[in-house]
Amino acid sequence: MVRETRGNRLFFDGCDLTEIAEKYGTPIYVMSYNDMMDHINELKKDFIDAYPDTKNRVAYASKAFACTAMYKILDKAGMSIDVVSGGELYTARKAGFPAERIEFNGNNKQPSEIDSAVEYGVGRIILDGIQELPLIESACKKYNKKMNIMIRITPGVAASTHDYIVTGKKDSKFGIPLDEEILMPIVKEILDSKWLNFCGLHMHIGSQLFTNDAYLKALDVLMDWAGKIKEKFDADVSEVNFGGGFGVRYTDEVRKPYNYFLDPMMELLKKRAEEIGIACPDAVIEPGRSIVAEAGVTLYKVGQIKSIPGVRKYVSVDGGMGDNIRVALYQAKYDACIANKADETCDDKVTVCGKYCESGDILLTDYMLPRSVKAGDILAMYSTGAYGFTMASNYNMNPVPGVVLVRDGKSAWMIKPQTYEELTQNMVIPDII
Ligand code: LLP
Repeated sequence: MVRETRGNRLFFDGCDLTEIAEKYGTPIYVMSYNDMMDHINELKKDFIDAYPDTKNRVAYASKAFACTAMYKILDKAGMSIDVVSGGELYTARKAGFPAERIEFNGNNKQPSEIDSAVEYGVGRIILDGIQELPLIESACKKYNKKMNIMIRITPGVAASTHDYIVTGKKDSKFGIPLDEEILMPIVKEILDSKWLNFCGLHMHIGSQLFTNDAYLKALDVLMDWAGKIKEKFDADVSEVNFGGGFGVRYTDEVRKPYNYFLDPMMELLKKRAEEIGIACPDAVIEPGRSIVAEAGVTLYKVGQIKSIPGVRKYVSVDGGMGDNIRVALYQAKYDACIANKADETCDDKVTVCGKYCESGDILLTDYMLPRSVKAGDILAMYSTGAYGFTMASNYNMNPVPGVVLVRDGKSAWMIKPQTYEELTQNMVIPDII
């Protein structure tokens, strides 16, 4: 366990978090190298080593947390990555991430994004609509490169999670509807193009999932269509991307091991491929959250404390919805601890709020902390490694906090905090005012 209490101090990957807060300042995101690697290694064991006769790949979903150092860690671990924007692609290129291990997703890829993906020579483009095809083909001609294409389908399966993070149901902006008249012309166009190489089908049904039933239902549907493609064009789906979405622990969720999801999926894939009469496709997964969520902790400094008699005690911290929008957006729940009072009994019910000018800027509601909490204490909020930094904003002109990597008692910046100068550097006072 990378998180432990020593005396009254909370430690994370061997580092005293109170000292980290003093050294680097607050608010700050802290990422544990060992926690990330534990998940990466579990994925390698359960999905790569467990299936030695396949070319299975794990493509980390950058949107959960991305920066040059993160891409370097993933590159060294031999992982692939999934990017969804020119910005993620640019960052990966800047880190020297190998092009052939990049998969490019996105429901409205811009011409310039497609151009740079083809120029760099990414391993796969995951098609999300027919209008992308001419853009990809013309970029292929321009750079004289052939592109591997996967088609993202909408399997029409609703996974049980927050409405905002369901993506696989029929009414979705993501993926191509499973309609003969829509899907087949796309497959045909790819097969007919000398610039494109049809690889297979992709799905992503949602995020923060704890049961495998929706994955299996969706994969079954996907393989029905692999069968139809075989029948109609005699073309093999040689790769299937299962997407990401594996659930993590924020408070009391019980995390399932990867093989709980992946073993039955691999079994179903093999069985359905045999039925259809194609070689078992290679499988790809795109986990984001499950690699980085629990590897992250956010540190805040306690400031103003307000007790409203008979109502509530507010404990304010120096960050909030700008560095973690997930509470306001998804009513996400977290656990936390006072890092410099980690051994004290939590005997006082408080509401932890941020510093943003918004009543909804609440991080923890009716949460138990030690009665002794006072200004200057360090609050550590757990499991903030995914979709925290990457969804951060500059609301109220607050700079985005930096990210520190901790590993076996050592620490270093991964991302430095934004400065006021950086906040204003693109602002111009036009001479028409
Ligand atoms: N692949 C695709 C195509 C995706 O759309 C996503 C997430 C993933 C993979 C990675 O899913 P993960 O393993 O991280 O669950 N901002 C939300 C999550 C949005 C997820 C969007 N797509 C949150 O903070 O919960």
